[in-house]
Amino acid sequence: MAVLKANAYGHGTVPAAVALAAADAFAVARLEEGIELRAAGLRHRVVLLEGVFGSDALRQAAHHGFELVVHEPGQVALLESWRGDHRFGVWLKVDSGMCRLGFRPAEVATAVARLQVCEAVLQPMALMTHLAEAEDRGSTRTGGQLERFATLTEGLPGERSIANSAGLAAWPAARADWVRPGLLLYGVSPFAATTGSELGLRPAMTLETRVIAVRNIATGDRVGYGGCWTASRPTRLAVAAAGYGDGYPRNTASGTTVLVNERPAPLAGRVSMDMITVDVTELPRVAVGDPVLLWGPGVPVEAVARAAGTVPYELLCGVSQRVHPDVR
Ligand SMILES: Cc1ncc(COP(=O)(O)O)c(C=O)c1O
Repeated sequence: MAVLKANAYGHGTVPAAVALAAADAFAVARLEEGIELRAAGLRHRVVLLEGVFGSDALRQAAHHGFELVVHEPGQVALLESWRGDHRFGVWLKVDSGMCRLGFRPAEVATAVARLQVCEAVLQPMALMTHLAEAEDRGSTRTGGQLERFATLTEGLPGERSIANSAGLAAWPAARADWVRPGLLLYGVSPFAATTGSELGLRPAMTLETRVIAVRNIATGDRVGYGGCWTASRPTRLAVAAAGYGDGYPRNTASGTTVLVNERPAPLAGRVSMDMITVDVTELPRVAVGDPVLLWGPGVPVEAVARAAGTVPYELLCGVSQRVHPDVR
């Protein structure tokens, strides 16, 4: 099940779905994301990972043939109130320890019993859970989640789904019938200490801009807002047209690598809304118009995320609307 939520992690819902058309199903978080897939003519199974709230959304889900994650009692009641002919594919979500979505262990039997006799539900329903820290290969909690899920669902019919990207890559026991990778599909690693290329993946996204100014500054000159980077030598500085207004995080530390003309150079000074400043003293002949790669092949988004104190998910999803997509 290819996870396409949040604009396919910033890659564009429809282009990503087309690229991932071999998937057995797509997963999205919002009804609107599923509708976008249908509007583009994609007829795949579509699972709404948070289900629906309210009869209007339920009607729309029926109209588009979406399958529903059911994770709380109100959603069971909603299905019980359904009077249409449509039967919904349902993924009953169990909270095996993440304490976010899903029926708590003590609630599972009741939810199962109600849904098993609910006329709106196609039987058998699928059973799913979500792992809280599968990206920690040494996690002591993950084994407990797997055990709890197995116990809570023992003897029930229906397919099982547990693993996100990290579960798929690091916890073979979590693979079950359906895996639900998101990040891995975009060529990015969910593990803090490993990049996608170290896992044999290629990043799907390249974030690139151009140099808009080049200047020479003197030893002791302080660069950018707050003057938080000081030239320790006569420095050639390139200004590139990308900043946090484009989704390049403001917290990215000086020293973080970008590629100017395909050569590495360090960020120097604070990221502004529309610009970054890069020390290109060591590079030959940098000029206005030269390409600057912020992440993509050669600059792992995982490394930029680490330098910004965040995770690659946030960077991929956070590319802003003014960035021109160039889908290939
Ligand atoms: C329920 C569920 N399954 C799967 C995924 C995919 O996760 P990942 O991108 O880490 O593979 C997510 C994303 O957060 C999710 O919420």
